[in-house]
Amino acid sequence: MRISLAPMEGLVDGPLRAALTQIGGVNWCVTEFVRVTSTLLPPRYFKRVAPEWANNWRTPAGVLLKLQLLGSDPTCLADNAARAANLGAPGIDLNFGCPAKTVNRHRGGAVLLQEPELLYDIVREVRRTVPATIPVTAKMRLGYENTDLALDCARALADGGAAELVVHARTKLDGYKPPAHWHWIARIKEAVQVPVVANGEIWTVEDFMQCRKESGCEDFMLGRGLVARPDLARQIRAAVAGEPADTVEWTNMLPVIAAFHQGLIGQGAPTYAPGRLKQWLGYLRRSYPEATALFREIRTQHQLNALPA
Ligand SMILES: Cc1cc2nc3c(=O)[nH]c(=O)nc-3n(C[C@H](O)[C@H](O)[C@H](O)COP(=O)(O)O)c2cc1C
Repeated sequence: MRISLAPMEGLVDGPLRAALTQIGGVNWCVTEFVRVTSTLLPPRYFKRVAPEWANNWRTPAGVLLKLQLLGSDPTCLADNAARAANLGAPGIDLNFGCPAKTVNRHRGGAVLLQEPELLYDIVREVRRTVPATIPVTAKMRLGYENTDLALDCARALADGGAAELVVHARTKLDGYKPPAHWHWIARIKEAVQVPVVANGEIWTVEDFMQCRKESGCEDFMLGRGLVARPDLARQIRAAVAGEPADTVEWTNMLPVIAAFHQGLIGQGAPTYAPGRLKQWLGYLRRSYPEATALFREIRTQHQLNALPA
């Protein structure tokens, strides 16, 4: 079984990847999407979204980071993928799931699920251009407005050369509204020969068990659930192995949170680091009551040089 940390733009960046992979149980991460329109992006752009490039594309805990691209122009995506590969990216993931209006209006993300032929062209061109040793993967939703083309899209991506598909089991219209339709992942799994990674709405070990049952998958991608409960991957592994629960106490979370905050200092405006800390605490409140107290303590602070003891 493999477990990955989902790409989440505006939420899962270098410092949060460092924190979550330090807690453990994660096999690989994916960057926030890099949007490709019509230009070859400068190397600094890739380095910014993947600061781990300087550490051989690994988080400080040693977990590999793939780079995600989003766009609709096969040639331009392929050129940018080749550049990222040149910078050492160990894998290129293609985003066909973003529901954002501005992104979809510019023919990026989930809107492309209406055009399976284009999905095929994109993956084929990226696969053809990137060195054969570097896997090209794709992340899809079940469709744009409905699931009518879900299997066609999955087949197009696999036929185009995707080594693996991550399926977020909702349409773009579903947004992030529960439930995730895990049984659909099983249908996709049957339709393609490549490994399928199940994603969507896994917040607890029970959710995981149910998702595994309905999807029939052996590989999983955790997003908000892992941000809210950083020991979720460890808990899942312990449950699967039939071992006692492997949880991380709040006192052991504190140094990880402090290091996360420290990693953000110096980035952006002075309000940036405390803002991001509050964002993560907002998620952590779901599983740690202590996070609420800390959130309250720092709520009114716009600048924060050290975490309160
Ligand atoms: C704030 C946010 C940002 C996201 N950004 C990306 C992204 O950059 N690329 C991507 O493929 N998916 C993105 N997603 C989707 C997640 O990777 C994942 O598919 C989705 O959250 C469902 O998984 P979950 O229920 O475990 O969170 C984003 C989701 C959220 C909530």
